[in-house]
Amino acid sequence: MVRFIAIDGSEQTIDATCGMSLMENAVANGVEAIEAICGGNAYCGTCRVHVDPVWRKVTGPVTEIEEPMIEASGDSDPGVRLSCQIPVTTDLEGLVVRTPESQS
Ligand code: FES
Repeated sequence: MVRFIAIDGSEQTIDATCGMSLMENAVANGVEAIEAICGGNAYCGTCRVHVDPVWRKVTGPVTEIEEPMIEASGDSDPGVRLSCQIPVTTDLEGLVVRTPESQS
């Protein structure tokens, strides 16, 4: 289960499937704030999430692939990640992320 919290406080809880990215799970479950225009190529930045502080060690830091897009987005949240670059594993059961205002 993963909780997506939008900027207005509304929440969507999804049953995430392991082996898919967090973005793919969000799109498959109709999380509106995750547009994912580039289809998971780390090129659009419309799949950004802000990982809840307690989960950042589990999801890990921004990867080299994500860096250019995150820089270009101007999103300076300390928990920012591209959800297309977060593989879902059983370790993420209960994950909480927020979606940025620009994706509302
Ligand atoms: S889907 Fe485009 S950057 Fe993640």
